[in-house]
Amino acid sequence: MLYRAHVLVCNGTNCSLKASPEVQKEFSRLLPEYGLDKEVKVVETGCFGLCEYGPTVVVFPEGTFYSGVKVSDVREIVSEHLYKGRVVKRLLYQVPPAARPVQVYPEVDYFRHQVRVVLRNCGFIDPESIEEYVARGGYQALGKALTAMTPAQVVEEVKASGLRGRGGAGFPTGLKWQFAARADGSGPKYVVCNADEGEPGTFKDRLILEGDPHAVLEGMALAGYAVGAHQGYVYIRGEYVLSIERLEKAIAQAREMGLLGKNILGSGFDFDVEIRLGAGAYVCGEETALFESLEGGRGEPRIKPPYPTDAGLFGRPTVINNVETLANVPVIIERGATWFRTLGTQKTPGTKVFTLTGDIVNAGLIEVPMGITLREIIYNIGGGIPDGRAFKLAQTGGTSGGVIPAELLDVPMDYDSLATHGSALGSGALLIIDDTHCIVNVAKSFSFFFLHESCGKCTPCREGTLQLHRIMERISRGEATRTDLENMKALAQAMYVAPLCPLGQTAPLPLMSTLRWFKSEYLAHVVGRTCPAGVCPMDGSAARAAAGCAASAAGGAAAGAGRAASREV
Ligand SMILES: Cc1cc2nc3c(=O)[nH]c(=O)nc-3n(C[C@H](O)[C@H](O)[C@H](O)COP(=O)(O)O)c2cc1C
Ligand code: FES
Repeated sequence: MLYRAHVLVCNGTNCSLKASPEVQKEFSRLLPEYGLDKEVKVVETGCFGLCEYGPTVVVFPEGTFYSGVKVSDVREIVSEHLYKGRVVKRLLYQVPPAARPVQVYPEVDYFRHQVRVVLRNCGFIDPESIEEYVARGGYQALGKALTAMTPAQVVEEVKASGLRGRGGAGFPTGLKWQFAARADGSGPKYVVCNADEGEPGTFKDRLILEGDPHAVLEGMALAGYAVGAHQGYVYIRGEYVLSIERLEKAIAQAREMGLLGKNILGSGFDFDVEIRLGAGAYVCGEETALFESLEGGRGEPRIKPPYPTDAGLFGRPTVINNVETLANVPVIIERGATWFRTLGTQKTPGTKVFTLTGDIVNAGLIEVPMGITLREIIYNIGGGIPDGRAFKLAQTGGTSGGVIPAELLDVPMDYDSLATHGSALGSGALLIIDDTHCIVNVAKSFSFFFLHESCGKCTPCREGTLQLHRIMERISRGEATRTDLENMKALAQAMYVAPLCPLGQTAPLPLMSTLRWFKSEYLAHVVGRTCPAGVCPMDGSAARAAAGCAASAAGGAAAGAGRAASREV
């Protein structure tokens, strides 16, 4: 049936928490009352991106963008906009800080500066409808690969695209597929989609799966064809209820339409997907721990080599890729590697999906070309820092990444540029922090996370994370000495190499990164024995007595002392 208008109601997790399902129900209830139910279709979508202003409602064909829509607003949209054709101005999204109402979503700065490849369908289709995915070109890439390309050509195309894994390490996807394709073919091979997403502040994989599950399934099927695997698994954390529900529906629909299962599109190629739930341990996102968990064991990492492409799941050659990586693949096969390389940088082509959170006006989900500067993200897309406060730092790559201070606001956001500054692109968590926060307190929360999440299998990680956290606690209480800082550095050097897996190896990285850029603030705690931001308890009475200075001394003066001392360290 053809409809005159479509009302897209965001049912992403954030909007759902703000009652978007009730908003959607109200549209469905009121449309018949106005005789519009045969003319206007209500569509439930995944995350549209501007979660901060949810529930979001977009009316097509023109793309009128309403934000913060309440159940009580729905009658006005139906009676004024849908019935009489008059836009409800008071519900239009207002551009902060000028508060200029914007009528259609492409005019919103937040969207204007984005390039949506992975999120091409998120917020625009009903994720529970395979027909809508197909109508937007979905499964065309799979059809093209199965009918017009050899598996080796698929591998070559992905290699030529320069796609690098979006799960954190940035390993070239095509190369990984080539290793798996060439590995022992005497038994089964597997494709695993890593949707564990245990990094605090990261939720992009959840939203991709909620908004466009078929794109990920299509990427998995293409991976299977390329490497000669016939079984795929999505390992996803159990709390991602909506993503799981939508994935289950998508798998059933794809099987029904012959796009998963036996003899896909009559090509003779078999590939099916099953879902496995994780219980929420960060280490289970690490590929080998994930295999252990998927096999029914305790989620602890294995020693590498052998690498997964030789001996992964059930000891067989396995391709493991992140959700976002896999969602890129159908577009690469459909539009070609050359097109993909027009986006991003020479070394890291394509786009990156970030979860933009913290002290930022437009918090939400964004997708930008690789190499965009941090400043552009914060000020052009994010709308700046609320209440005119000063930007202090961005934590990139989640807890295992590092921090970027104000002097590096023009750093390009890609794997290599961030690495040269001791940070990482990681999983795509981008946490913006303003000048009201204390760096020691922020870093202490990182150290606690690693202490809590260390699986305990190897001593350097188990003991190292404990000692790092103890030092951070001493600094925050005003009980630390310069020796503690030296010990922390020495411990970090050992931990970069000694632990069994990257969880322990990266645990000191965020601490060293904060120490590198905010040394004066650390020294204000250690030497001046005060917290310039007034956040840390600084209740180390013994240390205060020893230092002979009051913990309640004025922050600025103490910070000055810290800065002076920093020249000595
Ligand atoms: C402690 C730890 C947690 C990880 N968590 C995830 C995760 O949640 N999702 C993910 O895709 N990769 C995660 N990784 C990276 C994976 O081990 C692996 O490199 C990735 O899934 C490969 O996919 P890609 O090449 O597409 O990035 C984690 C790594 C470590 C060390
Ligand atoms: S959940 Fe609705 S905009 Fe993100």
